[in-house]
Amino acid sequence: MNQEKSIYVIIGGTSGIGEAVTKHLNSANSIVHVASRKTGLDISDEKAVHHYLESIGPIDHLVVTAGSYAPSGKVTDVSIEEAKTAFDAKFWGSIHAAKHAARYLKPNGSITLTTGMLSRKVVANTYVKSAMNAALEAVTKVLAKELAPIRVNAISPGLTTTTAYQHMNPLSRESMYESAKRNLPVGKLGDASDIAMAYVMAMTNPYMTGSIIDIDGGSLIS
Ligand SMILES: NC(=O)c1ccc[n+]([C@@H]2O[C@H](COP(=O)([O-])OP(=O)(O)OC[C@H]3O[C@@H](n4cnc5c(N)ncnc54)[C@H](OP(=O)(O)O)[C@@H]3O)[C@@H](O)[C@H]2O)c1
Repeated sequence: MNQEKSIYVIIGGTSGIGEAVTKHLNSANSIVHVASRKTGLDISDEKAVHHYLESIGPIDHLVVTAGSYAPSGKVTDVSIEEAKTAFDAKFWGSIHAAKHAARYLKPNGSITLTTGMLSRKVVANTYVKSAMNAALEAVTKVLAKELAPIRVNAISPGLTTTTAYQHMNPLSRESMYESAKRNLPVGKLGDASDIAMAYVMAMTNPYMTGSIIDIDGGSLIS
């Protein structure tokens, strides 16, 4: 019997967590559209996001994982310009995607945004990430009310070994990974496929909306 294919849009799906989500979805019954700057879409450009989604038409599920970069450092040291650029990609980019996807999403469809454990774990020198992720968590719940019956959720990853850390000094990165392994209750680092499973649940569970799903190896409780 012919089953209608589900249409997925993964903005940020060319690497890391987004790429792992696309791997979970690539089956005979899915059409998966992947976008990022590499494919010509900058999520911080509202018009570009609008035209991209218009070119696809009806969608079952939107996932946004774009925008992993944010400057770190004390509020007295961080460049406000750089902090605003990070917000433009991750915070405003997610809003652009939700705003323009809403008219194309099927009533039983979903939006899954991405936040991060720093929204609620208080760590010095991370105020930009904390603020962006906390703002997105608040917005996720508002959108879940406004856009119902479309479901809106956010996944909040903890430390996950992706290309997001490839620009770090290798010694600092190894020491960060070692410290995480020692201190996390699960005793291991997160990998992108661990996090991707949560997106699949958010897209497929018909009773889940307005939820923030923590997949962080226990970081918030340690
Ligand atoms: N990895 C972690 O430890 C961790 C922890 C907490 C939260 N998160 C969150 O999880 C999400 C995914 O992170 P990740 O680790 O998978 O990062 P990643 O490997 O760096 O992947 C980020 C993806 O976003 C795309 N992207 C970045 N800026 C974009 C823009 N302006 N427009 C369109 N696409 C853009 C990138 O592709 P292009 O470069 O081609 O644009 C890439 O496909 C981010 O929101 C991050 O903050 C990650």
